[in-house]
Amino acid sequence: MPVITNIQDLKRIYERRVPRMFFDYTESGSWTEQTFRENSSDFEKIRLRQRVAVDMSGRLTKGQMLGQDVTMPVSLAPVGLTGMQHADGEIKAAKAAAAFGVPYTLSTMSINSIEEVAEATDKPFWFQLYTMTDEDYVRRLIQRAKDAKCSALVITLDLQILGQRHKDLKNGLSAPPKLTAKTIANLMTKWTWGLQMLGAKRRDFGNIVGHVQGISDASSLGAWTAEQFDLSLDWGKIAKLKEMWGGKVILKGILDAEDAKMAVKVGADAIVVSNHGGRQLDGALSSIRMLPQILDAVGGDTEVILDSGIRSGQDVLKALAMGATGTMIGRAYIYGLGAMGQQGVTTALELIHKELDTTMALCGERNVSNLGRHNLLIPSDFEGSWQE
Ligand code: GLV
Repeated sequence: MPVITNIQDLKRIYERRVPRMFFDYTESGSWTEQTFRENSSDFEKIRLRQRVAVDMSGRLTKGQMLGQDVTMPVSLAPVGLTGMQHADGEIKAAKAAAAFGVPYTLSTMSINSIEEVAEATDKPFWFQLYTMTDEDYVRRLIQRAKDAKCSALVITLDLQILGQRHKDLKNGLSAPPKLTAKTIANLMTKWTWGLQMLGAKRRDFGNIVGHVQGISDASSLGAWTAEQFDLSLDWGKIAKLKEMWGGKVILKGILDAEDAKMAVKVGADAIVVSNHGGRQLDGALSSIRMLPQILDAVGGDTEVILDSGIRSGQDVLKALAMGATGTMIGRAYIYGLGAMGQQGVTTALELIHKELDTTMALCGERNVSNLGRHNLLIPSDFEGSWQE
């Protein structure tokens, strides 16, 4: 095994080990992938202020997210098809997150079901909800998350209709993979993945299969979305979902100051500033670029979690210094999971933690809660003069 020193090392191993269609699913943005690229390149535009001769002992990265103590203000984002990246991927990621002390979010479009993850872990996780036209199914899904003692409901607002990712269409992405000649040829080069997958608890969408009747195709995210997702979702429905849940609610997919204000109005405990990792509205600005105006709009009335583009502890530091109260990582932990299973997710978290801790020290800070704009050098045109 090569020496792993950063997230990109995990990505290289991941690419070798996992079937092409699942690697491509992770590595895609929608259409031209402009937003996908800019989520990361905009982080590079923000620079750090080096400070010296400051006592660096006793550093703290601990904080709180949604009232929960965290080892660092980083949570694992909901990622569809995680259990196709590695056998029992959701269980493994949830276990790694619990052991490290950060929140894990289980996607509606997961392979392992809510119940399987709850049974395999002893710490509460967050559950991410996609709303569907079948209200009864949604009600039961919410009840299942309650029964599993999930500690927050993450409602995703930016995917009622799927942004097109060219590679997924060309690869015929599905779970389990449909065995075309091209797929079989690729699977034959991924022996370890295949052998582990044979022993997996599940190889289809665990929150759906067996829980809904009369559906024509529950193996493809694209088909399921087009058939089932609720196009009429609005703030009134969001308020009703919040009431149905009765616990903490995180609204994910906020990228606009007006929407952020509406989220506060319906009582969101947190919002996730996100463009879905550049997988939905191609042409949207990056999350980190939109963060300042969203923070101005909500003015401390809700927690603000930054998602999309984070691949390092330096990125986490920049998001926190910009004013986010927490962050979410998606691809960064999926690389680890695909590369090395549960250990890979732990390694991804350790790498990010060490980068955050060391970078904080080099910025002359001892506590993540003291990070602020004073640690950053931001180009004067960063927020730009975008005209409506
Ligand atoms: C679904 O959540 C996706 O981005 O593929």
